[in-house]
Amino acid sequence: MPRPIEALIHRDGLAHNLACARELGRGARVWAVVKANAYGHGIERVFEPLRAADGFALLDLAEAERVRALGWRGPVLLLEGCFEPRDLELCSRLNLWHTVHRDAQIDWLAAHKTEQPHRVFLKLNSGMNRLGFTAQAFRAAWARLTALPQVDEISLMTHFADADGAGGVAAQLAVFERAADGLPGERTLANSAALLRHASATTADWVRPGIMVYGSAPDHPQHTAAHWQLQPTMTLRAQLIGVQQLARGDTVGYGNTFVAESALRIGVVACGYADGYPRHAGSGTPVLVDGVRTRTVGRVSMDMITVDLTPVPQAGPGSEVTLWGRGPSDSVLPIDEVAHAAGTVSYELMCALAPRVPTRSA
Ligand SMILES: Cc1ncc(COP(=O)(O)O)c(C=O)c1O
Repeated sequence: MPRPIEALIHRDGLAHNLACARELGRGARVWAVVKANAYGHGIERVFEPLRAADGFALLDLAEAERVRALGWRGPVLLLEGCFEPRDLELCSRLNLWHTVHRDAQIDWLAAHKTEQPHRVFLKLNSGMNRLGFTAQAFRAAWARLTALPQVDEISLMTHFADADGAGGVAAQLAVFERAADGLPGERTLANSAALLRHASATTADWVRPGIMVYGSAPDHPQHTAAHWQLQPTMTLRAQLIGVQQLARGDTVGYGNTFVAESALRIGVVACGYADGYPRHAGSGTPVLVDGVRTRTVGRVSMDMITVDLTPVPQAGPGSEVTLWGRGPSDSVLPIDEVAHAAGTVSYELMCALAPRVPTRSA
C-alpha cells in the first residue's frame, strides 16, 4: 500500500483564478506564468485549465518545449530570454518570443541565421536591479534591435519589486514611462500583485500573473486569497498513521522542542519535509484534521509531523489531514497561512512539493 499522502491539483480553481486575472486586466492579454513547472503544479496538469490564457510565460527552454508538445500554438514567452546563442535555434524552431535584457543577447541575435524573424521583449531595469537594461542603455538597445533583420517586433517590459508592499509601483512606473516614452511596441508590466493592487496603472497590453493563478495572495497577510476571491489550486493531504497519549511534561519529536503542559492526545501524520512540508514550520503551524483546524506540535521530521488532536477527539489512524488547500466539507487551509507560519511564502511551498508525493488532477 502506498504511503497515505497525495497532492491534488484543482482544475476549477486554476480556471477560476485565470478568469479573475483576465477580469482585472480589463482587456489586456494574459500570460499565464508557468515557470518552475507551473509553480510546482505540473505544466501538463495546468495546461488544459489555463488554456484560456493568451500565452504561457516561463523561462526554462525544456518547459517551453513541453508547452509546445502539448499542442499549444499560441504565444510562449521566455522571461529570461536566451542563456546561450544556440537557444535562438529553439526560438526559431518553436516560435518562442524571448526577453532581451543584456547586450550579449542582442549580439547573439545579430549573428543568428533565421528565416523567421523573432518577436522580442526588451526588458528595462526600472529599479528591481535583477534583469534588464538601465534607463540610460534602454533606447540604445532598442535602436540596435530595431536595426536587426532577425527581429520583427519589439515589446517593452519591466518587473516590479514591491507591488505587494508599501513601496508600490509608482517610482518604477515613472522610470518605465520615461524610458519607453515615444517608443512603439506593446507593453507588459504587471505581475499578480500589480494586477490585484494597482491594476489601473499597470495593466498595459499584457499582464503576467503567476501566484494569483495558483490561488495565493501575493500580499498575505495584509490580504487573504479569499479577499481577492482566489481559489486554492493545490491541496496537500495525508492521513494520521499513529496516535500518542502524552502526559504533562512529555516531549514530542527530535530535540524535545515541544513539552506538553498537560495531558495531550497527538496524531502522527504521514507527511514530512521530504514531501515538501517546510521544516521551519514550528509548533503552532495550522493544519486540518478531518476538516477541523488544529496545530502542529514539535519539529517536522523527514517523513512525519505531529499534531494536537484536542479539537478533534474522534480522530485516529486513517483520519484525513489537510496540510494546505481544500479539506473535507468545504474546509480550506490557505497555503499562505502555512507559509507565513514557516517564515516563507506560498511560492516556495508550491515549488517544493516533492516528486515522491503522488499528484493528480481533481
Ligand atoms: C518577469 C516576471 N513576470 C511575472 C512573474 C509572475 O509573478 P507573480 O507570481 O508574483 O505573479 C514573475 C515571477 O517572478 C516574473 O519573474
